[in-house]
Amino acid sequence: MRPCPYAGAIMQITITRPDDWHLHLRDGPEMAAVLPHSARQFARAIVMPNLRPPVTTVAAAGEYRARILAALPDGAAFEPLMTLYLTDSMSPQEVWRAAASGFVRAVKLYPAGATTNSDSGVTDIGRCAAVLAAMEECGLPLLVHGEVTDPAVDVFDREKVFIERVLQPLLLRHAAIRLVFEHITTGDAADFVRACGDNVAATITAHHLLYNRNAIFAGGIRPHHYCLPVLKRERHRQALLQAATSGNPKFFLGTDSAPHSRASKESACGCAGCYTAPAALELYAEAFESMAALDRLEAFASFHGPDFYRLPRNAGQVTLQQEEWLLPAAFAYAGGEPLVPLRAGEPLRWRLLD
Ligand code: DOR
Ligand code: ZN
Repeated sequence: MRPCPYAGAIMQITITRPDDWHLHLRDGPEMAAVLPHSARQFARAIVMPNLRPPVTTVAAAGEYRARILAALPDGAAFEPLMTLYLTDSMSPQEVWRAAASGFVRAVKLYPAGATTNSDSGVTDIGRCAAVLAAMEECGLPLLVHGEVTDPAVDVFDREKVFIERVLQPLLLRHAAIRLVFEHITTGDAADFVRACGDNVAATITAHHLLYNRNAIFAGGIRPHHYCLPVLKRERHRQALLQAATSGNPKFFLGTDSAPHSRASKESACGCAGCYTAPAALELYAEAFESMAALDRLEAFASFHGPDFYRLPRNAGQVTLQQEEWLLPAAFAYAGGEPLVPLRAGEPLRWRLLD
């Protein structure tokens, strides 16, 4: 990071162009609406496969990738890093095909029923033993939505219980698997990742760094603060801030930006997901600034992810300027539906310069 050399002048920070290691781009017109936001902020993104139907094969991932590239705005340099959706019936051959493809970079584990479009997810991780063994052998990372779906477990405890019931046993059976614990939300998850070997890392979202669970109920129910895993209590947010700003290479940026139309969020049964893509870096900068750790933002946003994924760091740079501005109240989405971002119509402290 390079602080502005002019004392008393406008504060700017310039960092290596970052990547988003966890992103929902959707498909069709929805994708066309959101893709420019991510392509403006990030050079690459790990693209989630929870479409309908899910992206379960290398062939389908290749077609999805081609649709993303075709939808990019003119002149945008953005590389989608594709993932496969793990099912009970995936074959180890598919894993080997993925590893050889050069464009599938990971396999995503959704416990069946844990979140949006997860009904085809894994019902029993024991059924995936041969696939996990193949991943261990070829080094393809497993990305984990770490929540149990047992309705008897309190929704705020589902990540912690997942560590005990699923993650620890999985890592005992597959000790060499390269694994990213996605969008961690608790101090328990951060501690767990720190205690594991170098083969285990975690992504952290901007919204879990900036908000605790009170935000879901501030003066009334706030559907745009509802995501999965759900926001947790303040001590967990503090633990995530510590982890993200610690400089530990196991923790890196993954927005989990997850667009849903306003109607599907502001509903009697609203969808989970925070749309953060339009101002993702600005939100992370605010979180790091709150810890007086802006000098650690570059490593978290631009170095730790590619290092874990064994990809080169980006060559370009981006500049953030300290300047208050208002995020639009909504963006156009598919079919004329509005898409409400996190922080809609509210001020941001940083602005990404073009
Ligand atoms: O909040 C979320 N939204 N969490 C997920 O795991 C999925 C995502 C989505 O696809 O909307
Ligand atoms: Zn996600």
